[in-house]
Amino acid sequence: MAFRINSYEKSAAEYRRALRVIPSGVYGHQGPAEGCFVPVTAFPFFSDRARGSYFWDVDGNRFIDYMGAYGPNVLGYNDPEVDEAAARQRADGGDCITAPSTRMIDLAELLVDTVASADWAFFAKNGGDATTLGVMTARAYTRRKKIVFFKGYYHGVAPWAQKIDYPGIIPEDVSNNLYVPWNDYGRLAEVFAQNRGQIAAVISQPYWHGNFADNELPAPGFWARVRKLCTDTGAVLILDDVRTGFRLDLAGSDHFFGFEADLICFCKAIANGYNLSALCGKEAFRNTLSGLSYTGSYWLSAVPFAAGIACINKMKRLDLPRLLDGKGKKLTDGLRAAAAKHGYDLRVSGMPALFYLRLVDAGELPGVPGVAPGVSSGPQSETNETPALLLHQRWIAGMVQRGIYLTNHHNHFINYALSDEDIDTTIAVADEVFASL
Ligand SMILES: Cc1ncc(COP(=O)(O)O)c(C=O)c1O
Repeated sequence: MAFRINSYEKSAAEYRRALRVIPSGVYGHQGPAEGCFVPVTAFPFFSDRARGSYFWDVDGNRFIDYMGAYGPNVLGYNDPEVDEAAARQRADGGDCITAPSTRMIDLAELLVDTVASADWAFFAKNGGDATTLGVMTARAYTRRKKIVFFKGYYHGVAPWAQKIDYPGIIPEDVSNNLYVPWNDYGRLAEVFAQNRGQIAAVISQPYWHGNFADNELPAPGFWARVRKLCTDTGAVLILDDVRTGFRLDLAGSDHFFGFEADLICFCKAIANGYNLSALCGKEAFRNTLSGLSYTGSYWLSAVPFAAGIACINKMKRLDLPRLLDGKGKKLTDGLRAAAAKHGYDLRVSGMPALFYLRLVDAGELPGVPGVAPGVSSGPQSETNETPALLLHQRWIAGMVQRGIYLTNHHNHFINYALSDEDIDTTIAVADEVFASL
């Protein structure tokens, strides 16, 4: 059976309308300028509605969605339990009120009970609010300036988290940033030795899940050594669990990889799409954080707290990370088999719940990173305009045009509402697209 090919006339018209009144039409990671929508004609730009594992665009095309709003959709769009808790709070209690609701305390208690390295929780709205607060807390606590990053990081868009050559960024914004390749403990130890007594924190994702390259898990023993180095030197270990949080382990991704962070940043999956983020941390940092000037107009609103409580309770009841792992494995095994059937090598990296895909042309020369079978391009490699890259983009475009929403060079997200039937459909579409390449 041949799958229907989408057309996007209304999306294109709406985009032209948006361009007249919104800079770049759709800005940031959800917009076509971001670099993952290649070719842009294969992708819808505006949604009409969403439910479960699907969203519909303004042209009426339905997509099985493997991006989940770039992470927040962990249970499925419009999860009835989360939506009902949020609606009840809005109707009976209210949302944005002069004095906060006690839902805030309920959620903090739940996080302290759930997250292994949490003795307290502080709430905000976006992931970047939590990472910024983590860095400020570390600097205030240690009275040091420098922050160590792993190359290819993304911790949000605050000036400290941007790059020196980005527009609007001045050298002073990033002059205390130090960069180390992922998994390179030797280099990290060297950087610590060269900056003795000056490093406030290491900030890191639990594994390397950057864009445009295969994702990389921590090398054996890596996290234990990083933890010890931070402890021995008095540096704060900040875990950015904004994307991975609650998807690998409800107790935190540090718990999953067998170490304890000092501060841990959550967002995305915490409330299934309601606007909420949190910084959790160890007792030692409580007083420092209490002294910081840090808040926002909507940060203490009650509806997202009610949604977060319902979302975390449901994820716990389901033992959700286990289910996401199983669905992710089933899907990626099926996609790999469909590729192999047609003579292609589809690389799957990262964790199954947040898998990253890269199609390799099995016929290409060995020994060339990003091109050869068996060779991972890794986080440091540049993206080459290789035939394999173009082939990958053609495959992704074919999937999206047939109603399977993937992106070219970003990790994907499994959600609980994704059914076996959705997975089977996705694999059947992949088979058709591989046959047509
Ligand atoms: C690892 C990581 N950290 C921080 C952020 C920033 O979160 P937000 O966009 O909610 O500010 C993101 C967002 O994608 C992320 O993936």
